[in-house]
Amino acid sequence: MTAASAEPSREPIVSVRDLQVRFQTSDRRATVKAVDGVNFDVRRGETFGIIGESGSGKTTIGRALVFLLKPSAGAILHDGTDPLALSRKQFQSHRRDYQIIFQDPNAALNPRMTILASVLEPLELAGIGTKAERERQAREALERVGLPQEFGERYPHQLSGGQKQRVVIARALTLRPKLIVCDEVVAALDMSIRGDVLNLFADLQRDLGLTYVFITHDLAVVSHISERVAVMYLGQFVELGPTEAVSERPLHPYTQALLSAEPRPLPSSMRLEERIVLQGEVPSPIDPPTGCRFRTRCPHAQPLCAEQAPEWRELKPDHWVACHFADPNFSPDQEPPEETP
Ligand SMILES: Nc1ncnc2c1ncn2[C@@H]1O[C@H](COP(=O)(O)OP(=O)(O)OP(=O)(O)O)[C@@H](O)[C@H]1O
Ligand code: SF4
Ligand SMILES: [Mg+2]
Repeated sequence: MTAASAEPSREPIVSVRDLQVRFQTSDRRATVKAVDGVNFDVRRGETFGIIGESGSGKTTIGRALVFLLKPSAGAILHDGTDPLALSRKQFQSHRRDYQIIFQDPNAALNPRMTILASVLEPLELAGIGTKAERERQAREALERVGLPQEFGERYPHQLSGGQKQRVVIARALTLRPKLIVCDEVVAALDMSIRGDVLNLFADLQRDLGLTYVFITHDLAVVSHISERVAVMYLGQFVELGPTEAVSERPLHPYTQALLSAEPRPLPSSMRLEERIVLQGEVPSPIDPPTGCRFRTRCPHAQPLCAEQAPEWRELKPDHWVACHFADPNFSPDQEPPEETP
């Protein structure tokens, strides 16, 4: 599929094709299908959201996108290039353009290094510029994320959580990346400062032409920041489309349930009238259900759903869904559909 086809002027910066990532369990007796056949493009300059419950494979996709782990099968192209085909040296320099930021800034910052030393570190490792040039770049990055110069001499424990996350963003910016994967980057922050950090991401995107992949389980965050959103369930995408369309008129029963369960902070347009309570637990990614993976919890499941995996279909312009029975007028309130012969 080519999710970018509706807007040919916006070239993909990342193309993901039939991506699979598998892990061996620690006793090496079984294989976890963490990501199992995912296709999408990230368009240059956009914010692409990925939402889904814990364990659905979001972080695994994020790590694969920046080649912190190698796909088990399928391809990830950066600007049309396969980074795995590059020489070791080319690969090291190429990967600076594709950064990832995680939830916990404490894990990313060395408590014994000053803030300036932490921001300088990636530049030093990459051997970029002279000492003076590196320091200027690091100070500029701190300024860009809204931290006063004197913060450079402080240590991480002298900063708040939001300030530490700004330092982590500055560290990623020094390498002047094209794309940043943001994995739950505001989840550990107080509600009161989440908005400020999200606004910082938006400002940096506008000023520096950045592309983001924004991973979160928080629908309010996705609605605030992303233009398109993909919904993940058990290692696969079940729905992908413009954030407004997916949130106001979700076509997949799983997305409908996710939205209906969301508590108050969601905009009223995103709240569904009736809460859909999903039955049962998320199945194991070691042995996912046959056919549609959501069928064991889907309120609309039919016999066909156990027999055949649903196709990934573009049901509305730029709006993709994997469900046998989804249609553009599908509503969570309607009766279960008749099975097609
Ligand atoms: N290194 C690993 N070895 C074995 N299994 C792994 C490994 N990393 C992830 N997994 C498994 O892969 C699946 C997807 O994990 P992942 O961390 O991508 O989920 P997630 O959607 O990011 O969840 P969360 O919202 O909790 O962060 C899970 O079942 C997880 O246990
Ligand atoms: S394919 Fe069947 S089980 Fe899967 S989401 Fe659609 S109706 Fe539910
Ligand atoms: Mg995760």
